Amino acid sequence: MGMASREIIDLRSDTVTLPTEEMLEAIRHAELGDDVYGEDPTVKRLEEMAAEKMGKEAALLVTSGTQANLVSLMNNAKRGDLVFLEAESHIYWYEGGGISAIAGLLPWLIKAHLGAIDPEDIEAAIRPKNIHFPEPALICIENTHNRYGGTIVAPRQMQAISEVARRHGLKFYMDGARIFNAAVALKVDVKEFTKHVDNLMFCLSKSLSCPVGSVVVGTQQFIEKARKSRKVLGGGMRQAGIIAAAGIVALEKMIDRLEEDHKNARRLAEGIAKIDGIKVDLAAVQTNMVRFDTSNLGVSDELFVLKLKENNVLVSTMDKNSMRMVTHRGIEKIHIEKAISAVDSVVKELHSDKQV
Ligand SMILES: Cc1ncc(COP(=O)(O)O)c(C=O)c1O
Repeated sequence: MGMASREIIDLRSDTVTLPTEEMLEAIRHAELGDDVYGEDPTVKRLEEMAAEKMGKEAALLVTSGTQANLVSLMNNAKRGDLVFLEAESHIYWYEGGGISAIAGLLPWLIKAHLGAIDPEDIEAAIRPKNIHFPEPALICIENTHNRYGGTIVAPRQMQAISEVARRHGLKFYMDGARIFNAAVALKVDVKEFTKHVDNLMFCLSKSLSCPVGSVVVGTQQFIEKARKSRKVLGGGMRQAGIIAAAGIVALEKMIDRLEEDHKNARRLAEGIAKIDGIKVDLAAVQTNMVRFDTSNLGVSDELFVLKLKENNVLVSTMDKNSMRMVTHRGIEKIHIEKAISAVDSVVKELHSDKQV
């Protein structure tokens, strides 16, 4: 390789974002204490801010989105209970089966259009009380929906689901890893979403650019129980204010800029949609993700990803012939242009290879 430094355009996920200078400063100066003793003032401040922003009583800083979902599952249902879960949900696909292995719950999958479960499908899945049936306890949704490409479950759809939950005495939980993306995209306050659920989580470490952390939000009682579960899972952290300090900056400064990521995702989607052999469902491009289909190229996913990598662009493979690109704070308009032309030249190269 020559001397010129190669700038890698990393579109695999928004989790690759690095902390801002302001976050690093805040971490350096954070007032700290032992959070397992409840003595870290910076953690407390973040938790209060998060609860306030979400319109709930209390919040809990946890290590990751996976841990947030797990402690929430453990405290919204009891072992052996049934959980209605969207069939493509992160909890089901990517969290190591913790829902069953650790929380002891039975997932009941419901397929949904672009990730938004139809309340009638939940209604239809709820069976009358019977000695044979597991006890239904909880409905989980994901917003934005990762595997559908960052799609939004709109507040009115959430309200309809919450009515089903209420009618049947079920809890309603939202994996809101990227809920601020949804709120910014629809230009509404995040409470328009959160008011419909009993509790939720959101991630600091994704599009909000923090190095670590997620937050569970709900009633005081729920959060106290979740705090105990977090400890059991090994998530009791001591001077966790170094994580919370970055989280505070994120809540104050990093939300409004998500609009830029959404514009970039749209540019990227429209750009690659014009390339022969690439299929994009533009209706599914609603926030900071672009899912696209490469089946018409007739090449293996490994080869396609490798060729893009040779052109300094990193993407994720989601399923066979199905890729994902995610925009985030490290990606600017210029990177979008470069990424589109990298896809274009890789596709041309692959087409010409096939013709010889
Ligand atoms: C929707 C959703 N939920 C939960 C998670 C889990 O977060 P973590 O990777 O912090 O465990 C992710 C991660 O990508 C996600 O996209």
